[in-house]
This record gives sequence, structure tokens and C-alpha cells, in this order.
Amino acid sequence: MTDIFEPEIVAFCCHYCAYTAADMAGSKRISYPPNVKIIRVPCTGKVDAIHIMKALEKGADGVYVAGCLEGDCHFKTGNLRAAQRVRRVKALLEEIGFDSRRVEMILMSAGMGERFAQTAREFTEKIRELGPNPIRSAIQEQARRAAG
Ligand code: FES
Repeated sequence: MTDIFEPEIVAFCCHYCAYTAADMAGSKRISYPPNVKIIRVPCTGKVDAIHIMKALEKGADGVYVAGCLEGDCHFKTGNLRAAQRVRRVKALLEEIGFDSRRVEMILMSAGMGERFAQTAREFTEKIRELGPNPIRSAIQEQARRAAG
């Protein structure tokens, strides 16, 4: 029997847009993969590079930050700062030989339930094609060795 790889994805979602869009997707019964674990944040401007790196280090196969559309951030430029941090994280990942497609910044409004679901589906599919996070594989291998 072949194991089907089910990616674990962390989505940092702004309370004012992506989180509400996820809610809307739920209430409209628009399905999206259960692989996406949502972490609600007050604004994507609160998501630091270290949060993204920690999620990857803890074994997430992919991470995305979903914030308000340009000009709609309730804290003025939180989404722009988040986008800048995501770009920096991607550059850093590339530098260490890690596929930067595992990290993305996505913008949407609260009313975009379908976009939220579509993003979750597409991102999950992309990560499924990329395969498991190599860090997670290394951690699992280490645990196997430690267990004897
Ligand atoms: Fe949504 Fe800032 S309030 S990204």
C-alpha cells in the first residue's frame, strides 16, 4: 500500500479578512482541504518572519499569510509589512536551499469565501506536488533513530 502524502499547512489569517472569508466559506458550505490549519491574527502585520520559520521548523509543509487587500488593512500598512517579511523569508529560504514556494502571501477581502477556499485548495495541491517538508523528514528520521 502506498502512503498518500497529506501536507500540513499553516495559514496565518487576518481576523478582518481571510479569517472572515474562511468563516464565509464555511457558512456557504464551500469546502476546502482540512490540511490547512488556520491561525487567526489581529493583522498580518503581527506575523513575524520568526513565526513563519518556526512553523516550518516544527514541520509544516507549507505556510501562507493571508491579509487584507492593498489599502484595506485596518492598521494601514500591516499587510504591506507582512508581504515584505514574506519576501524576505522566501529569499532566506532560497539562500539555504529550501524551496521558497512553500511560503506565500495572499490578499483577499472578508467577502471572498470562494477565494479563500480556492487558495486553500491550490496551495494544498502545490505543496502536495512539492512533497514533504525536508525538515520534517529529517526530524522524523531522527526520532526513528532515537527510538532504536
Ligand atoms: Fe487585515 Fe491588517 S487588518 S492585514
